Amino acid sequence: MHITRRTGLTMLAGLAATAGGAGRAHMHRPAAPGGLQAIAASKGIRLGACFAWGMPGADRGSFANPAYAALLTRDCGILVPENELKWQALRPTPTRFDFARFDAMIAWAQANALPVRGHNLLWHQPKWMPRWAENHDFGATPRRAAEQLLVDHITTVCERYGTRIQSYDVVNEAVNPADATLYQTALSRALGGSTATLDLAFHIARAAAPHAQLVYNDYMSWEPGNAQHRAGVLRLLEGFKARGVPVDALGVQSHIITQGVDTRVHIAALEGEWRRFLDAVTSMGYALVITELDVRDAALPADIARRDAAVAAYTRGYLDQMLSYPQLDDVLLWGMSDRYSWIEGFEPRTDKARRRPCPYDRAFKAKPMYAAIAAALTAATPRIRG
Ligand code: G3I
Repeated sequence: MHITRRTGLTMLAGLAATAGGAGRAHMHRPAAPGGLQAIAASKGIRLGACFAWGMPGADRGSFANPAYAALLTRDCGILVPENELKWQALRPTPTRFDFARFDAMIAWAQANALPVRGHNLLWHQPKWMPRWAENHDFGATPRRAAEQLLVDHITTVCERYGTRIQSYDVVNEAVNPADATLYQTALSRALGGSTATLDLAFHIARAAAPHAQLVYNDYMSWEPGNAQHRAGVLRLLEGFKARGVPVDALGVQSHIITQGVDTRVHIAALEGEWRRFLDAVTSMGYALVITELDVRDAALPADIARRDAAVAAYTRGYLDQMLSYPQLDDVLLWGMSDRYSWIEGFEPRTDKARRRPCPYDRAFKAKPMYAAIAAALTAATPRIRG
């Protein structure tokens, strides 16, 4: 099926999965010696991180901040924009795209031979769509107008970046963890429902980026309280398969949360259910991607040495589980340095101690979590790349 910007009302009728999967050509960059990517590459794995746009020299997790850029080029084999490819960043108005920031980011990545994932083509929650989209007047033929808006958005982004982006989070966080149902947005209401909207997003992406890995990305995790969320995600993935929707992989965000200092006991308690979930996902034929790994240091003392040790042990245990799946070969961190992590702003600790979720501290010094990631990569079974 060929979906173009001009494809009209018939788009939803008779959608069939486009034949063929996503071939994954890998950009090969000699990994910097001594960094995480050097270990990852020896196993056919890519280690990566999110990065941001910034004014030259600004104190941000940006390519234009030499201190942060040094971590990216030392440890990473793949990058992802933290915010700059989202609708909220790209779409100031219904008729305008603003690509300036992401263009600068991808140009820098390319100059450093670092491939970039696309995050994301549709964040399916009203809260994270631009205000104008939630208040949009879809007119007299709302379904047609909503389809057109989605086609325009995804096609414009995919065509602009072409084969420079080899993997997209096509849909982000569509499942409501409170009741395992799909969220609705103004767009999905106009378009005839959430299922139709998500399916269409993947079909458009396949047509516009036939080379790319297409990912459904969500934060269902292994900690207690996620059973309902996992069930909703499994149901969604089963539906995609049944309807022939072109989805290649599950993005497991991995904003993991420590459960206390006795990490070994906690991991032992979590791993059974988690493996059952991952087994169900992979047995449907989906690949896995760790898209946003970081650690919320909950139920841990403020003491830095004890906290860091527990965060490291928890990270190691988690990665060992995940890397035991041969379907996983990309591991991306949601930030290299504690200095720029979203967690501090969104979920500060109640004891006011600064969060320590990333492999490097606020002064760009490697923490025990860095060594834990290195050890997990070292212990991983080598992947066979096609
Ligand atoms: O850029 C604007 C700035 O112009 C404005 O003055 C300021 C005022 O609030 O906001 C700035 O935008 C913020 C943006 O981050 C860039 O810093 C947004 O308010 C803020 O909501 C946004 O937060 C991001 C969040 O997603 C929502 O988009 C976080 O940085 C980012 O880490 C977080 O990432 C998400 C993934 O995309 C999906 N999975 C969960 C993950 C963590 O929440």
